[in-house]
Formats: sequence, structure tokens, C-alpha cells
Amino acid sequence: MKVQVRYYSRSGNTKVLADAIAKGANVKAISIDDDNALIAEKTDILFIGGALYAYGLDSKIKKYISELDANNIKKAIVFSTSWISKHSIDLLKKELAKKNINVSEEYIYYKNKPNSNELKEAEETTKKILKK
Ligand SMILES: Cc1cc2nc3c(=O)[nH]c(=O)nc-3n(C[C@H](O)[C@H](O)[C@H](O)COP(=O)(O)O)c2cc1C
Repeated sequence: MKVQVRYYSRSGNTKVLADAIAKGANVKAISIDDDNALIAEKTDILFIGGALYAYGLDSKIKKYISELDANNIKKAIVFSTSWISKHSIDLLKKELAKKNINVSEEYIYYKNKPNSNELKEAEETTKKILKK
């Protein structure tokens, strides 16, 4: 099964979560700013994450999602961090749905910078999701 992890993170909170998810999936998390961020291969599960800024998503992740090729992505699972609101989860799902990408109900979310226990939990959650 081909699994990929992509994220956008301004201050590193979503990055550490992306890295924990990637560890659980045995892959490398790639920032959408990286040159190799494009999903060029058929992917079974794309974990994609970004945080909430002023009750919205950063325009960079919206642009990244708008440019995804839905034919290459079987299913997307979103993840996010924020101070308090999980609205970013809904917004990420909405952007993916606009592209007709199949989005899982499941998501991974933590407040602020996840601590080591939370990161371990995220890693285990990812392993469980991938076993299904
Ligand atoms: C400019 C700005 C606006 C934010 N607005 C919200 C918000 O509306 N609601 C919220 O719950 N968190 C908000 N946050 C908190 C971020 O979502 C949170 O710090 C997140 O973990 C940042 O992730 P990152 O380090 O991956 O960019 C905001 C943070 C910044 C810097």
C-alpha cells in the first residue's frame, strides 16, 4: 500500500504531528513547500495536514490541494493542530471534497504542539488506520 504524508506548518506544530504520522506509516513527511511535494504516483492513502489561522487555512495549502490530481489519490485523511478550534479539519475536508477526492471521516487532531505522549498516540493511531 502506498502511503504519503504532506503538510503545511508555519511554526512547526503541524510538522511534528506530520512526522509522527509518517513514522507510523513508515514513510517521510514532506512539506508542501518542498520541490518533491507533488503527488505524482498512485497513492492509496494521503495524510494531509495544516493548521488553522484566523479561522481559515493558509492559502498555500488551499492552492496545493486545488492542484492535486484526484486520479492519483484513493483516499485522503486530514490532520491538524490549532489553539482550540477543529474548524481546520472541516476546511481541509471541504477543500479535498471540492476536488472529488475521497476523504475519510477519520482525522488526527491535537491542540498546539503535540507533546511526546500525543505524538506516540498519533503514531499508533496511524498504524491502526493502516491495518484496517
Ligand atoms: C496568525 C494566527 C492565527 C491563528 N488563528 C487561530 C484560530 O482562529 N483558531 C485557533 O484555534 N487557532 C489559531 N491559531 C493557532 C494555530 O492554529 C496553532 O498555533 C497551530 O498549532 C499552528 O500550527 P503550525 O505551527 O503548524 O503552523 C492561529 C495562529 C496564528 C499564528
